Amino acid sequence: MTHETRGPARGWREATEEALYGPYGFYRRPEGPAGHFRTSVHASPLYAAAVARLLCRVDAALGHPGELAFVDVGAGRAELTTGVLDRLPADVAARTRAYAVERAARPEDLDPRVTWCAEPPAGVTGLLFANEWLDNVPLDVVEVAADGAPRRVLVHDDGTEELGSPVTGPDADWLARWWPLAAEPGLRAEIGRPRDAAWAAAVATLRHGLAVAVDYAHARGARPPYGTLTGFREGRETAPVPDGSRDITAHVALDACALPGGRLLTQRAALGALGVRGGRPPLSLASTDPAAYVRALARAGEAAELTARGGLGDFGWLLQPVGTGVADLLADAGLAELLADGNPQEPLADADPQEQPLTDTGPQEQPLAYEGPREPRAGRAELLVDVADHEEQ
Ligand SMILES: C[S@@+](CC[C@H](N)C(=O)[O-])C[C@H]1O[C@@H](n2cnc3c(N)ncnc32)[C@H](O)[C@@H]1O
Repeated sequence: MTHETRGPARGWREATEEALYGPYGFYRRPEGPAGHFRTSVHASPLYAAAVARLLCRVDAALGHPGELAFVDVGAGRAELTTGVLDRLPADVAARTRAYAVERAARPEDLDPRVTWCAEPPAGVTGLLFANEWLDNVPLDVVEVAADGAPRRVLVHDDGTEELGSPVTGPDADWLARWWPLAAEPGLRAEIGRPRDAAWAAAVATLRHGLAVAVDYAHARGARPPYGTLTGFREGRETAPVPDGSRDITAHVALDACALPGGRLLTQRAALGALGVRGGRPPLSLASTDPAAYVRALARAGEAAELTARGGLGDFGWLLQPVGTGVADLLADAGLAELLADGNPQEPLADADPQEQPLTDTGPQEQPLAYEGPREPRAGRAELLVDVADHEEQ
């Protein structure tokens, strides 16, 4: 690509917006996200089963409303939406209205029970769930220049970068508050303001219920010094070139997104509280029911992947209650909350693996629909519960 054809230099937020969601954007492609990487949704049907269980808890906390919404934001091809519907008890399924919120077009063969929409429906009651949505909300990147001041990073279509003007106004305020940079040339940060706003807008659509954002995340005590902006294509991590050929993503400052009353957990703790744990089945089962043992072993392997340290288990879950009665639906995960300095507290103990419950059987025995690349976009999450600070703003 020559200097003339590499396009104008612009901020990463604008360049990513076009590269992901423009007319030829990555997320407009027919193969969908699962053609390039896999999320917890694709890793195991245990994940949809756990979210279905959470929806049942929300339903009970809300007193079993006549219409219960399940809103899947950034739904991809609605794999989680349909997976949750398939795992609900009949009486809950009969009252559930499922919405897949997506910028891409509705898949032709999608389950007719799913309402496809570009924005979350307003005024609903139930569970809003956003798995790996916020990391795809485009943001700007800054880098500390030779003079020690943070400047906006500008990017050409071929991925080459240059530094623009110094950061001022609300973006500078956000950096000072959430991602302060020392005057050391080369340090980078990603301005999470558009994600804070996107999350607040999504939460505001709930009249009563629980909103959950799940993503690879970092917290103020442990921001990555050079940022996390990267690309993914066909199962591999690549350079973040904004040309529409690949995903462009950055870890999420979930602590900055949190609204008053929000709570942050690791995925390991959240799924543990919903019954997904990676312990092996008792060996005695192998002799009494070998087939059941093999099935249980397979489920245990999938649960282990969803809760793994250094992998999907380190993802952050931001729980945002709206209205009363829904704040403690994962109260049993309390022990695994993380400290404000970014150091994890002692996690839930994997005491005797043989005693760990496995989640229900039936639907989880279905084969995985996903057979594409097997490279998760996993990253370490060092999280904190920091809502009080946020309220001070
Ligand atoms: C990484 S994929 C995750 C898909 C799915 N949730 C999963 O976990 O497998 C992110 C999805 O969010 C969608 N998305 C991004 N911004 C969106 C927005 N503002 N409204 C609706 N969908 C959006 C993208 O089109 C993409 O399909």
